[in-house]
Amino acid sequence: MSTLSMERVTYKYRNAGTAAVKEATCAFEPGRMYAVVGPSGSGKSTLLSMLAGLDLPSEGSVRYGEKSTGDMDLDRYRREDISMIFQAFQLFPLLTVTENVCYPMELVGMDPKEAKHKAEECLRRVGITSEEMKRFPSNLSGGQQQRVAIARSLASGARTILADEPTGNLDAENTGNIMDILESLARDDGYCVVVVTHDMEIAERADVVYKMTDGVIAVGGKQAAPD
Ligand SMILES: Nc1ncnc2c1ncn2[C@@H]1O[C@H](COP(=O)(O)OP(=O)(O)OP(=O)(O)O)[C@@H](O)[C@H]1O
Ligand SMILES: [Mg+2]
Repeated sequence: MSTLSMERVTYKYRNAGTAAVKEATCAFEPGRMYAVVGPSGSGKSTLLSMLAGLDLPSEGSVRYGEKSTGDMDLDRYRREDISMIFQAFQLFPLLTVTENVCYPMELVGMDPKEAKHKAEECLRRVGITSEEMKRFPSNLSGGQQQRVAIARSLASGARTILADEPTGNLDAENTGNIMDILESLARDDGYCVVVVTHDMEIAERADVVYKMTDGVIAVGGKQAAPD
């Protein structure tokens, strides 16, 4: 698995006066959890969307291992290497929980039975019961819906999870629960987890905290030594 990194990345939205991200240099390694904090409008989501290959930098490069996102098959990258989790869960309302998790696997041609088996395994991993798997997302709590979204990420096989305010819609208990899962994926299973958050308590749990201020990124707070 590769390290995701940025080198002197600048991003300017069309028609915008100043750049949303300015000369950002940072790295995200497997087996660690990162937090990106900063005020509203400081460029956190813009940074994440470049890491995810949804946008290309105006200047500088985003690399996954040796390869720059400017030179790679971005559809494949977004399907296989990276998965995103959002504040609003983004589950398909007309599919059951299991079908939601099966969907990306069937999309790449996995046998439906095998996909279902894998989906159930991933859902169990995040604490969703067999009974809950048969429900539609609207019949689950917010915390449960976010766990389904994480299971869908796991099922995709991607080893880097980019989460934009994943607990923004959740109460303290569910926030703790989702953070436990994300932390365990990094620490126990070697995923690279990047969490954008406003919440300093959440950021405290990360190995590395990047702070964004007006598009400028800096390492802030603790930076644990690799073990
Ligand atoms: N599509 C767009 N077109 C023009 N400017 C944009 C666009 N999206 C974001 N911006 C601007 O870029 C800057 C960074 O926005 P971004 O969404 O990355 O901030 P953020 O840190 O994620 O904020 P929040 O915490 O509110 O989600 C802001 O000044 C914003 O207004
Ligand atoms: Mg944002």
